[in-house]
Amino acid sequence: MTMFASPEDARTRLGAVDYLTDPGIATAVFLADALGKPLLIEGPAGVGKTELAKAVAAATSSALIRLQCYEGLDESRALYEWDYRKQLLRIQAGVDGWDEARAGIFAEEFLLARPLLTAIRRDEPTVLLIDETDKADVEVEGLLLEVLSDFQVTIPELGTITASRRPFVVLTSNATRELSEALKRRCLYLYIDYPTPERERDIVLTRVPGIRAHLAEQVVRTVASLRALELKKAPSIAESLDWAHTLLALEADDLDEETIARTLGVVLKHVADHTRAAKELGLPGLGG
Ligand SMILES: Nc1ncnc2c1ncn2[C@@H]1O[C@H](COP(=O)(O)OP(=O)(O)O)[C@@H](O)[C@H]1O
Ligand SMILES: [Mg+2]
Repeated sequence: MTMFASPEDARTRLGAVDYLTDPGIATAVFLADALGKPLLIEGPAGVGKTELAKAVAAATSSALIRLQCYEGLDESRALYEWDYRKQLLRIQAGVDGWDEARAGIFAEEFLLARPLLTAIRRDEPTVLLIDETDKADVEVEGLLLEVLSDFQVTIPELGTITASRRPFVVLTSNATRELSEALKRRCLYLYIDYPTPERERDIVLTRVPGIRAHLAEQVVRTVASLRALELKKAPSIAESLDWAHTLLALEADDLDEETIARTLGVVLKHVADHTRAAKELGLPGLGG
């Protein structure tokens, strides 16, 4: 049973939870669901990769289960581990022979399910978000590959657990390193770039209630010109939204040069970027 009837249906329902798609995003979401394939999303920071998984969950009344990747993430954090303390207590509580003890402590009751196992075992609609996959060590990809190929997990002491209902899987990556070809082959691939000015303006209008249309327009245009500079960290959609909130708080009528100069710290977080922007945009009283 699929969750979306068409790309258009995906667009409408994601829009209803305030996630604004473009045809590429809507189609990828529809296809990932229709084909039952994990969706691998790459793109710069802050363009809505993580948010898309959350939006799919919200739009389809699914639970969101998140595996945040980081250096050193291992099977015991990603898949499952045995609850040693509880096992120890059980043994101390007094059991006859080793065989009984062994059988007793490797039971469901002593298993700690981590996100991958949890997602596979759920019978209700589930979105599994494997976030920032590129931050995990390469070995984790082998594990993901196994789990995402047949949606099953083998626990030596318990047997094989197979998903009765496949979760909708989203993997995100900031492409700090290439993911393996094998993993990519399992997935549909979506690259999310910075949005067009029109879509970004609509995102600002949707996510910052009370912002006037011309201010949203100015924010988006200024952010676009900042992105065109070679900055250490280009502002993302998140920064556009922060800027819009800032202007609301300041009750600014316009994003003029002085206001830009005063509030640049909301969007640029490196001193070198400030200097660069001040020079290129000819801002007053900054870097000069
Ligand atoms: N298409 C979109 N529609 C609405 N809001 C968006 C969209 N894309 C991004 N955002 C906003 O931008 C913020 C940053 O997105 P996020 O998913 O955290 O970026 P990423 O995971 O790509 O680094 C989100 O919290 C959300 O408020
Ligand atoms: Mg993210």
